[in-house]
Amino acid sequence: MPLFGKNDALKPEQVLAALSHVQEPELHRDLVTLNMVQDVTIQNGDVSFTIVLTTPACPLKGVMEKDARAAVGALPGVKSIQIKWDARVQGNPRLQGQMPMPAQNVIAIASGKGGVGKSTVAVNVAIALAQAGAKVGLLDADIYGPNTPMMMGVSYRPVGGPDGRILPPRAHGVQLYSMGFHVKDDQAIIWRGPMLDKAIRQFLSDVAWDALDYLIVDMPPGTGDAQLTVSQAMAVAGAVIVTLPQAVSQADARRGLEGFRQMEVPVLGVVENMSYLLMPDGSKIDVFGQGGGRALAEAAGVPFIGEIPMEPQVRVGGDTGQPIVISQPDSAAARALVAIAQDIAARVSVQNFMNQTNVIPIMEIG
Ligand SMILES: Nc1ncnc2c1ncn2[C@@H]1O[C@H](COP(=O)(O)OP(=O)(O)OP(=O)(O)O)[C@@H](O)[C@H]1O
Ligand SMILES: [Mg+2]
Repeated sequence: MPLFGKNDALKPEQVLAALSHVQEPELHRDLVTLNMVQDVTIQNGDVSFTIVLTTPACPLKGVMEKDARAAVGALPGVKSIQIKWDARVQGNPRLQGQMPMPAQNVIAIASGKGGVGKSTVAVNVAIALAQAGAKVGLLDADIYGPNTPMMMGVSYRPVGGPDGRILPPRAHGVQLYSMGFHVKDDQAIIWRGPMLDKAIRQFLSDVAWDALDYLIVDMPPGTGDAQLTVSQAMAVAGAVIVTLPQAVSQADARRGLEGFRQMEVPVLGVVENMSYLLMPDGSKIDVFGQGGGRALAEAAGVPFIGEIPMEPQVRVGGDTGQPIVISQPDSAAARALVAIAQDIAARVSVQNFMNQTNVIPIMEIG
C-alpha cells in the first residue's frame, strides 16, 4: 500500500520530516534540530515555510535553498514551494552580560602592523553586513589615526539625544562612533592606559547604540596598550588579523595575532590585503610578494578567510566617504570584501553554536 494515498492531504509534519534531512552546511546539523524552520503552511499542495538563519549574511544560503527544495519537492502532492528567509543573530552565551551596550557579537579587525588595510576592511565589512540585513555598528578605536568618519563620509560631530546619550551618526546603514569625534584633525593625543580604558568604556555606554547584531571594531596598529585595553573593555567574540603578502608584514601580524591569543580572544582568521594589483587587461602583478596571508594562517593554525586585490578605487572610496562595496560593488575588491564579511559572520555563528551546545566542532568552511 502506498504510504500517502491520493486523497491524503500533505501535512506539515511531513514537510518537517523532509527538512530534517537537510543540513545547515556550516553547523552540520539538520534544519529542524536547529529549530530553523518556522511557519509551515500547506494549501492544495502549495507549501510555504520560513528558514531562520543564524546570520543574514549567510554565505551558503543557496545550498540550503536547493537542498530544502529538493527534499520537500520529493514529497507526494507538492505543487509549489515558497521559502521565506529570516535571520536571528545570536551572541556567545559565555560573553552575554559582559558588555555595557546591546551588541551580540564584537569583532575586532586588527594587525600588528600599520597601514595594511585594517580600517578599509572594517568599514567595508561593516557595510556589507548591514547590506545583508544585519544591525551593525562600527567603533573606531584607533587612537593614533581615527579615520573611519572620513572613510564613511561623516563630516559632522555627533550630538546628544533626549536621554543625554550621544547619538551615533549613521552612514551606509551602519552606526558609527569614532575617537575622531573627540580630537581635532591635527591634534596628537598621548593616551595612557587608564584614560584609554575609560574612553572606550564610555564609547560603549554613553552612545545610544541600537541593539546590534555585530559591532565591528577598527583597532589601532601595534600590539601595545590599546589592544589590551580594547580586549578587556569589550567582550570580543573574535579577532580578524589583516596582513599583506610580504614576509615583514607577516611577522608583525603574527605578533598581533598572538597578542589576542594571550588575552584569550579567539582568532577568527587571517585576511590578506593588497594581494595583487589587478591590471586593466586582467593580469595580476604581485606588488607585495605572494602567499603571506595563507602562510601566516597556516603557521598560526587559524583559518585563512580571503584575499583582497589592490585597486586604486579602494583608496578613492576611502578618501571620498564612498567605500568600494558601495561605489563599485562589482569590482573584484568589493566582491572579495563581501565574501570576507559573509565568511566572518558564518564563523561567528559556528563559534556561538559550539558554545551554546558544547559539542565537539566539526567545522569546515570554505
Ligand atoms: N586593497 C586595496 N587597494 C588599494 N588601496 C588600498 C587597499 N587597501 C587599503 N588601501 C589604502 O591603503 C591605505 C591604508 O589603508 P587603511 O587605512 O585601511 O590601513 P590601516 O591598517 O587601517 O592603517 P592604520 O594602521 O594607519 O590604521 C589607505 O589609503 C587605503 O585606502
Ligand atoms: Mg586604520
